[in-house]
Amino acid sequence: MDQQGMKEAVALAALEWVKALPSDSVVLGIGTGSTAECFIRLLPSIKGRIDITVSSSQRSEALLEELQIPVGDLNSVGELDAYVDGADEANQQLQLIKGGGAALTREKIVAAAAKRFLCIADASKKVATLGAFPLPVEVIPMARSFVARELVKLGGQPIWRDGLVTDNGNVILDVHGLSIDRALETEAAIDHITGVVCSGLFARRPADVLMLGTPQGVETLVAG
Ligand code: A5P
Repeated sequence: MDQQGMKEAVALAALEWVKALPSDSVVLGIGTGSTAECFIRLLPSIKGRIDITVSSSQRSEALLEELQIPVGDLNSVGELDAYVDGADEANQQLQLIKGGGAALTREKIVAAAAKRFLCIADASKKVATLGAFPLPVEVIPMARSFVARELVKLGGQPIWRDGLVTDNGNVILDVHGLSIDRALETEAAIDHITGVVCSGLFARRPADVLMLGTPQGVETLVAG
């Protein structure tokens, strides 16, 4: 099975997981990226079970609207039953690196507001140690150089994703060269840099369930 086939298989498994949630009318957080997009494309088949969705990006919101799935504002919907999204890396503790698609801040907000967080990915995303994928950090534009110098002090090599403006009007620094074996501490240290909006490290709020598409089928890991 190729990578696309694995993404589609894991999206289908996520749909079954959503169908099994203990709610007749689900308030569902929706992620961003190619795997999340496979999942979104399946949602019309359970439209009757969805009360409303909250999207983590303008891109996913546009696709939801195209498919006539209702999309709401997080400020109006309260707690979400679940959030389904992809990841760039996931470790055994279900801590994640996200933000390859630059939607990390909204993703972190939606994940924080959700009772359950299901992460879906192809098996290539599972790693022993986070950090081979450059860690995205969303930064207020005027703080870019200052934050970059602070990230160097933490041992990283930040590269400005030149030309990219996030949905929140900010910029992204991709931090190379980190080997993240203490993810909670690293997340806190980056959060404490003035000018940082958010990092793509999901350690304080890891996934609750990780579904990995493998050539042999979907493997499910649950937070211990
Ligand atoms: C978007 O900002 C990201 O967090 C995505 O969830 C992540 O990049 C995974 O994307 P793919 O499913 O396209 O690999």
